[in-house]
Amino acid sequence: MDKIEITGGKSLTGKIRISGSKNSALPILAASLLTEEKISVSNIPNLSDIFSMLDLLKSLNVKIKKSKDKIDLTSSTPRSLLAHYDLVRKMRASFLILGPLLARYGEAKVSLPGGCAIGNRPVNLHLEGLEKMGVNFKIEDGYVTGFIDGRLKGATINLNKISVGATENLIMAATLAEGRTIITNAAQEPEISDLSKFLIRMGAHIKGFGTKKILIDGVKKLKSCSYEIMPDRIESGTYILCVFGCGGMVKLENVNNEICNHLIKIFRQLKSLQLKKIDNGKNLLIKKNKKKVELSLIVRTKEYPGFPTDLQAQLTSSLLKTKGRSEIIENIFENRFMHIGELIRMGANIKQIGSKVIVKKCKKLRGAEVMATDLRASSCLVIAALMADGKTTINRVYHLDRGYENLEKKLKKCGAQIKRMKS
Ligand code: UD1
Repeated sequence: MDKIEITGGKSLTGKIRISGSKNSALPILAASLLTEEKISVSNIPNLSDIFSMLDLLKSLNVKIKKSKDKIDLTSSTPRSLLAHYDLVRKMRASFLILGPLLARYGEAKVSLPGGCAIGNRPVNLHLEGLEKMGVNFKIEDGYVTGFIDGRLKGATINLNKISVGATENLIMAATLAEGRTIITNAAQEPEISDLSKFLIRMGAHIKGFGTKKILIDGVKKLKSCSYEIMPDRIESGTYILCVFGCGGMVKLENVNNEICNHLIKIFRQLKSLQLKKIDNGKNLLIKKNKKKVELSLIVRTKEYPGFPTDLQAQLTSSLLKTKGRSEIIENIFENRFMHIGELIRMGANIKQIGSKVIVKKCKKLRGAEVMATDLRASSCLVIAALMADGKTTINRVYHLDRGYENLEKKLKKCGAQIKRMKS
């Protein structure tokens, strides 16, 4: 297993090119199952989660041609509509193939994703929504088998809880359903809008994406299209917090206006951090003021447009050397604090009380041998290591490779002392 070694204490200066969004690319790749015509997608990040999705699609007879950041996909009828446990267990987003398979073939058997390091993560909302569209489900031996005689039926679906994945699965299913589907209390994340814009290019009729009420009028067939994936806002936010923690000045390239506005808004309480949109929002300038500022924040993770749970761990580590007392409250996942113990081993002055973390300035942050436990906990440890005195070795970096393309190269170019040790 690879390790990453970081010698901290350096500020960051330079440019970082932001990759395509992982959380946008995954549902869009799954949506290639909705047509037998060729789909071309560009700005795809080179990440292990993307490879997991491609392996799953290949097992369903999707022909894939990949060159650099572009992928062509052609989905011919598979011999079996089974998504095996071995392929699904690696990544929860695999469950996003359920809606497209049911919409196109009227049946599917998909392994239940099960729990993960950050909590239980059920799929009841996906299944209840699809049941409203006429699907009969059977759950047996860890698999969900869905079946409908004929086409899915448009339905009005109110999600009891806001879910990004359920909203995506239901939008995809509804594109080929008979009649109108209305999803209320839908997730409003930009990745939902990206998926919707892609499906519209394929010929789908979707309105209201980016709001809580999405309307989809089903069509009989979807067609070939080309699409460029949006930039990754969580990768962008992570590098902003690297600069906030370490100091320096970095230009983020290849972002967009909406992402810039969102990031400027969610980080507005970080008083010593300057974020400035440049080049019409294509790039974002990050600068940390040298003057030490005391901060006492209360940050609650929330669905978009609130503070993303995917940046909670990184925010915690970026505050470890800031004077003041901050509270970070996790509202989306019940167990997203696996990084806390590792940060304490590095000297962090933090305490977890239920779903709340209290962060105070630590006496000294020291490098240590630590273990990554999930994707965002890993980047949180990278930030702490960049800020710490001495050397940190991060084990189990395969978690990082799920969601950060060329992280070491990008940070090294900005002056970080970071290297990967292959095992
Ligand atoms: C997506 C993102 C993930 C992000 C999360 C929340 C992808 C590939 N992953 O995950 O990075 O952290 O959104 O922004 O886009 N829930 C239920 N029943 C369900 C589904 C969800 O109770 O059927 C709950 C979950 O346990 C969680 C909450 O709803 O508490 C939000 O989860 P959801 O938005 O579905 O997360 P994902 O789509 O899995």
